[in-house]
Amino acid sequence: MYQVIARKYRPQTFGELAGQEHVRATLGNAISSSRIAHGYIFAGQRGTGKTTVARILARCLNCEKGPTPEPCMQCPACIETGAGSCPDVIEIDAASNRGINEMRELRENVRYRPVRDRFKVFIIDEAHQITNEAFNALLKTLEEPPEWVVFLLCTTESHKIPTTIVSRCQQFSFRSVDYAELVDRMRWICGQEGITADDETLGVIAQVGEGSVRDSLSALDQAIACCGSSLEAAQVRELLGQFSLDLMGQVADALAAGDGRRMLEIVQELESNGRNLQHFCRELARFLRNLLVVRLVGAGSRLIAASGPEQERLLETAGWFSEPDLTRYLQIALDMYKDLQYSLQPRLHLEIGMLRLIHAGRMTTVEQALSALGPAPKSVPPGPAAPPAPRTPVTGAGVPPAPPPRQQSAPPEPARVPESGPLRDRLLGFLKASQLTMLADAVEHSEIVEAPGEIKFTGPPEFTLAFRDAAMRNAVQKVVGRAVKVSFVAGGQRPAPAPAANAAPGEDLSGRVMDHPEVQRFREMFPGAQVRNIRNLRD
Ligand SMILES: Nc1ncnc2c1ncn2[C@@H]1O[C@H](COP(=O)(O)OP(=O)(O)OP(=O)(O)O)[C@@H](O)[C@H]1O
Ligand SMILES: [Mg+2]
Ligand SMILES: [Zn+2]
Repeated sequence: MYQVIARKYRPQTFGELAGQEHVRATLGNAISSSRIAHGYIFAGQRGTGKTTVARILARCLNCEKGPTPEPCMQCPACIETGAGSCPDVIEIDAASNRGINEMRELRENVRYRPVRDRFKVFIIDEAHQITNEAFNALLKTLEEPPEWVVFLLCTTESHKIPTTIVSRCQQFSFRSVDYAELVDRMRWICGQEGITADDETLGVIAQVGEGSVRDSLSALDQAIACCGSSLEAAQVRELLGQFSLDLMGQVADALAAGDGRRMLEIVQELESNGRNLQHFCRELARFLRNLLVVRLVGAGSRLIAASGPEQERLLETAGWFSEPDLTRYLQIALDMYKDLQYSLQPRLHLEIGMLRLIHAGRMTTVEQALSALGPAPKSVPPGPAAPPAPRTPVTGAGVPPAPPPRQQSAPPEPARVPESGPLRDRLLGFLKASQLTMLADAVEHSEIVEAPGEIKFTGPPEFTLAFRDAAMRNAVQKVVGRAVKVSFVAGGQRPAPAPAANAAPGEDLSGRVMDHPEVQRFREMFPGAQVRNIRNLRD
């Protein structure tokens, strides 16, 4: 009879275990130094080795040559523990034996010495399913345990274990197993089984498992049953309902090109191929998350569940988008996933979502739009005649000051960093050259104090947001030439404006305003827009 891979390749020693280094190391030390507790709780995600470790530990404890972290594998205790026929290792599945009677029986059983071995080991699987009465019975035993008993409680839901029990046990958290480790393990198993599969294929299977070794190995079984002894990525993807990186690449292409029509075609293709649209959203979110991560940390990271060449491809694609864009896309994809969960019209929701993605990428800042219009007309009056952008609405008492508009994080074109002069001047020069005028304005009206590792600004409160802007931090760090903290304390008053820029009281402003180059450029950008109201904010 065919034995499923997960069972056939259940690790028999700590050395064979994938991941869980902390569990291995701690238990190994405890065994070597004979500090063995009476109760252990193995908690964590399904299929990550809890039951496996419980059996390995039982063997370590009872091996004739032991207790030892490296059991001999030859003595009766070692052999029988592996075969599940050891009289002193009692496995109880709490899912089916959860009542008080079983626990009473257990309490009886606990009182007798081991039949042959050193310890009587009780492995209680799915321990969270035990009833309260049964937990109480167990507690009594744990309170005064005979020297020879060891309880190993395995559970995926450790929060359901009463604290009275937990506090008498040592708890170990089993972590989901790394993508790379899953691939390694499967590569080794395929070698043993005479199956050929490249890393991309194994990667697809590992992704399906989401950190559970058992789930990955079940998917591997399924792939072998379907494709035989030679596994191909495309076929396996199809079988497991995974979406190819190619498809995600097409979405990225459409996004980069702002091509709404292509997006709708992609949705059409998904639906006509009978793909699960919500599953697609989840994969899209995962893809976008990977783009964001690869952009932040580079290719070759363990943070990304993808093979080396795939990570290189992700890195290239990520380069087309800015970090804020990717963050926005990811949020939208997650929203889509949620929307589709309850949607009666998933296709419609998906279409809307995909178009939202495109629009999210089109969101440019006013700064960007202005710079796209080309350099300002030469008629800009020199020096302080150009007043700083007004920010504080003054009409109407009690109106909170409007926050300064967000500026984009990256300057449209990298400006050269001025090399000499006081920090303030260099920073101002850089911000202006980067067309980050709002930020320049904020610096202009603030005090600067340089401290080790930190640049502190003090200024009027309406600049708070400007100093929180990532673009400000980037600019400061560029100018200073190293990573520093940028902090801002709202304190000072906005300094009185230079007299040159002041309008004489009662002067008609409209002529001056309409001639102002900034206003002219706004009117070019928004043809047909009217200037309806002009307020002198200094009044
Ligand atoms: N850390 C691991 N290293 C290698 N193989 C593992 C690991 N974890 C699980 N496996 C594989 O998965 C199978 C199931 O593992 P195990 O029964 O220990 O999981 P579990 O954590 O007890 O899961 P559950 O919570 O579902 O009971 C094992 O037979 C083994 O093939
Ligand atoms: Mg288990
Ligand atoms: Zn042995």
